[in-house]
Amino acid sequence: MNETALTVHQTARPHGFPTAGHFAFVASPFPAPAAGSALVENLYWSVDPYHREMMDDMPGGFALGAPLEGRSIGRVIASRTPLLTEGEIVFHRRGWRTHAVVTPEEVRRLPRFDGVPPTAYLSVLGGTGLTAYVGLTRIARLREGEDLFVSAAAGGVGTASGRFARLLGAGRLVGSAGSAAKAAHLVKEVGFDAAFDYHDGPAAVLLGEAAPDGVDVFVDNVGGEQLAAAVGALRTFGRIVRVGTISQYNTPDAPPPRFDYADIVEKSLRMEGFLVSNHLDLQEELYEFAVPHLQSGRLVPDETVVDGFEHLVDAFLGMLRGENTGKIIVRDRTQVPSPN
Ligand SMILES: NC(=O)c1ccc[n+]([C@@H]2O[C@H](COP(=O)([O-])OP(=O)(O)OC[C@H]3O[C@@H](n4cnc5c(N)ncnc54)[C@H](OP(=O)(O)O)[C@@H]3O)[C@@H](O)[C@H]2O)c1
Repeated sequence: MNETALTVHQTARPHGFPTAGHFAFVASPFPAPAAGSALVENLYWSVDPYHREMMDDMPGGFALGAPLEGRSIGRVIASRTPLLTEGEIVFHRRGWRTHAVVTPEEVRRLPRFDGVPPTAYLSVLGGTGLTAYVGLTRIARLREGEDLFVSAAAGGVGTASGRFARLLGAGRLVGSAGSAAKAAHLVKEVGFDAAFDYHDGPAAVLLGEAAPDGVDVFVDNVGGEQLAAAVGALRTFGRIVRVGTISQYNTPDAPPPRFDYADIVEKSLRMEGFLVSNHLDLQEELYEFAVPHLQSGRLVPDETVVDGFEHLVDAFLGMLRGENTGKIIVRDRTQVPSPN
């Protein structure tokens, strides 16, 4: 157990790309749980693109100089409630700190599925996987044999979307990512049929080469030029699943994408966005779908694991720069498997 608790604070608002200078690690004595709460030692943290949105001066955004929030998995180390037992592993949203005081209402007990690593509860079985699952099954309403294009395909939601789509019987899978190595990884490891580096030319040209016959569904993690290209490539009755807009989070002054609005009518396209937080009722259904595939090895979690809480901010900034493949997760050093 650490002797000092650390919390990450945001200290200034970025305009454009954030840096380590917008954050501070603040040390304090261990927080003491009040009656009815428990102290959790955090073991795994999720850093996510939405944290970048919350860094801006927006309603519900991060307050400056206060501990930041985020998804985390930890162990109860002291409890003043009969509803939380010392040693229990729980999921909660008071992350970006080594220790958190939580109430039973704020935590979710994680199920224990044989052969499923703890990080999976933040990747394919966590909010990342749930986002991909909701996008495919509820927003796209994917049917067997349909062809997909996924942007930011090598990231957390992107890899989960590709792997889930394959398991759901999708046809041709096309992905885009930020490097040739990631594009190759998508085809060799993740099960995509074709992938391109979006830096290699106009998105419409690259997508046209990778999906010459068009696609039925676009899982859009990025927005911008790739969204415009996908409108052109979608077939009649195509669906655009608006998941995120990461191409704009650090470039607030960039113009929005331009596309032919007539395509929406003439091809009877549907564009629908969603927030995973409005679909948490599907968590059990996700387990029922994904856990057997994880246990059989047909589904592999794609993760970049960074060791050490002190690297949390670096991991977050690295994710914004595209340094991750799959879901990025920060792991406490006590959880690093010992080599043998
Ligand atoms: N709707 C929801 O409820 C919900 C839930 C979770 C996530 N999201 C959204 O889903 C998207 C993916 O999230 P994630 O957690 O899975 O993150 P992620 O994809 O694992 O990480 C972000 C990735 O975005 C890519 N990227 C960064 N800047 C870019 C740019 N200018 N153009 C294109 N790609 C860029 C980088 O990959 P490259 O190397 O490929 O550039 C980076 O690895 C984000 O937009 C996020 O906000 C939405």
